[in-house]
Amino acid sequence: MTDIEFLKSVVKNKLPERRYIHSLGVFETAINLAKIYNVCEKKAGIAAILHDYAKYLSKKEARHYIKKFHIKIDEVIDKQIDLAHGLIAAELVKREFKIVDIDILNSIKYHTIARVNMTDIEKIIYLADYIEPNREFPGVNKIRNVALYNLDKAMIMALDNSIKYVIEKGLLLHTNSILARNSLILSSDKS
Ligand SMILES: [Fe+2]
Ligand SMILES: [Fe+2]
Repeated sequence: MTDIEFLKSVVKNKLPERRYIHSLGVFETAINLAKIYNVCEKKAGIAAILHDYAKYLSKKEARHYIKKFHIKIDEVIDKQIDLAHGLIAAELVKREFKIVDIDILNSIKYHTIARVNMTDIEKIIYLADYIEPNREFPGVNKIRNVALYNLDKAMIMALDNSIKYVIEKGLLLHTNSILARNSLILSSDKS
C-alpha cells in the first residue's frame, strides 16, 4: 500500500501550508480514532492525509474533473461546487496514486457531505476532519471527548453542528447530511 511519508510530501507541495497543517491534524486524529475503534490505521492515515487533495481546484477545474470522471452531482452540489471536492479527490487519488481500496476512497468521497449508513472508517475521517486539533469553534471540545467513546454520538453532534452552520449561512443543505444524521439516530435508537 502507498507510503504515507511520500503522500505527506505530495500533499505538502500541493496544498497551502494552512491546509497541509490541517491535513496533518486530521491524520493524527484519524489514527487515534482508528486505534480506539479497531479500524485499519494505515487506511485511515492514507484517507486522512489525502481527504482535501482536491480542495483548491478552481470552479472551472472542478467542473472539468466532474465531467472527465463522469461524477454524478445533484443540483445542490452543482450550485455549491466546493461540496464536490471529496468526490473529485477520490477519483484523483485513484488515478494518481493507484489507490483502489474502497474504504479509503469512500472515506475521502464522503468526508464533506457524509452519507447514509457510513462505515466506521468513513465516520472516523468525517469526524477527524471536524475535530482535529487546529479546529476551533464553540463545542468542539465536547465532540472531541465524545468521539473517544461513542463514534455515532459524536457523528450526530458533528452533523447537527454543520447542519446548523449551513442554515445560519443561508446555504443549501445537502440531503446526504440529513440522511446520514437520520440513519445514525435510527440505529442508535435500536441499540
Ligand atoms: Fe474537505
Ligand atoms: Fe478537511
